[in-house]
Amino acid sequence: MNQPANEQWIRNYPDLGTEQLSTDAATSPEFFERERDQVFRRSWLVVGRQQDVADSGDWFLKEVPSPKASVLVMRGDDGVIRAFYNTCKHRGSKLVHKNCGSGVKGFSCPLHGWVYDSSGNLAFVPDENEFYQLDKPALGLTKINCEVWEGFIFINLDPQPQLTLKEFLGEIHDSYNGYFDGLEEASHYTVTADINWKLLFDVSVEAYHVFSIHPIHPVSDETEKEVGKPPEIPEIKLPHIVLHELHRLVTVPGNPFRPQSPVEQLMIKYGVVSSFTFPEPGEKPADLPVGVNPGNVPAWSFDVLGMFPNNVVLTGRGIYVTIVMWPEAVDKTFFDIRIYMKPVNNMAERICREAIIAMTRDVMREDFDHVEPQQSALSPDAIQYIQLSDQELAVRHGYAALRKVMNEGFRGELVK
Ligand code: FES
Ligand SMILES: [Fe+2]
Repeated sequence: MNQPANEQWIRNYPDLGTEQLSTDAATSPEFFERERDQVFRRSWLVVGRQQDVADSGDWFLKEVPSPKASVLVMRGDDGVIRAFYNTCKHRGSKLVHKNCGSGVKGFSCPLHGWVYDSSGNLAFVPDENEFYQLDKPALGLTKINCEVWEGFIFINLDPQPQLTLKEFLGEIHDSYNGYFDGLEEASHYTVTADINWKLLFDVSVEAYHVFSIHPIHPVSDETEKEVGKPPEIPEIKLPHIVLHELHRLVTVPGNPFRPQSPVEQLMIKYGVVSSFTFPEPGEKPADLPVGVNPGNVPAWSFDVLGMFPNNVVLTGRGIYVTIVMWPEAVDKTFFDIRIYMKPVNNMAERICREAIIAMTRDVMREDFDHVEPQQSALSPDAIQYIQLSDQELAVRHGYAALRKVMNEGFRGELVK
């Protein structure tokens, strides 16, 4: 059910409160250290998709900046996807130096040639007889907890995670059955920006800023002319907000009255199916799972699923986008952005796909262009608290979930 415009979303979640929030979460180095140790070291984190290691012997590296960990993800000969610390058990050399590869049987350490098989077991030691007590079965690569949900590969750097992945996902675990299947990675780029990781997350789960900074979403020629008098437009009112214990979802409506550019008219003509550019008319299609457009919003364009702690997934029709935020410092973040779309069948569809990728990239750049200066303006001397409207409830929830985990752990136990 859509929330009537004159209702307040906070009524559904009164425990969140309505007070101002401290800016220290985005500016304090002490807060950042606690976040690294109590959130990123203990959460399930998305490092890729299972198609990144489609076949046995496929592998990739993920360099996690905070807490620092070089993670080797590999599909073994037995077809199982595993994650390991990228550290040789002889004298601790870095085992693998490239970013990714395929078709390997294992790895040989570049320093002295210890060999590990594709399941991480220590398989061969040159001059083994020169060692005194070598417990080879115990000297496999150190495992990192690794599980797959709906094709997403998660790791957890906590040797004994407080929650199973299923518990961590909660209600969303069963809400996307098969939705992410069948789309391929159409675009992948990375950005390192001088911002706290949460600032981009925040701007991704509210649409209050859309009218101001995203010209790709003008409402109409008339409203654009009304400078200084922002109209009541569909794109700045979120028609549906769902807050889970850790995760959150907002629905972004499209604007059926938006004038179509010549490129967009070509997209319609040549049949590229993506709700990013054109909202779905009428009722929610029956083939979409319960987690997508959960409010059955008319003119639905896409949802923003904010997965705790650092993964924003935009879910549309025929397209989804993942934005994974890897904090390097309180004011520096590495962003891994991937767009997944249906395979194309001909040149026209290819051109349309590239147009959608370019439009999505432009919107991302508009966000970065405004969020990076925001970080430098967030001096504690200038501002100590932020104000949040009812439309920014998912932002408020993000900070509440973060502080809860930092203060109480995932099971509500005090974290030492
Ligand atoms: S450190 Fe790897 S073989 Fe010596
Ligand atoms: Fe935006």
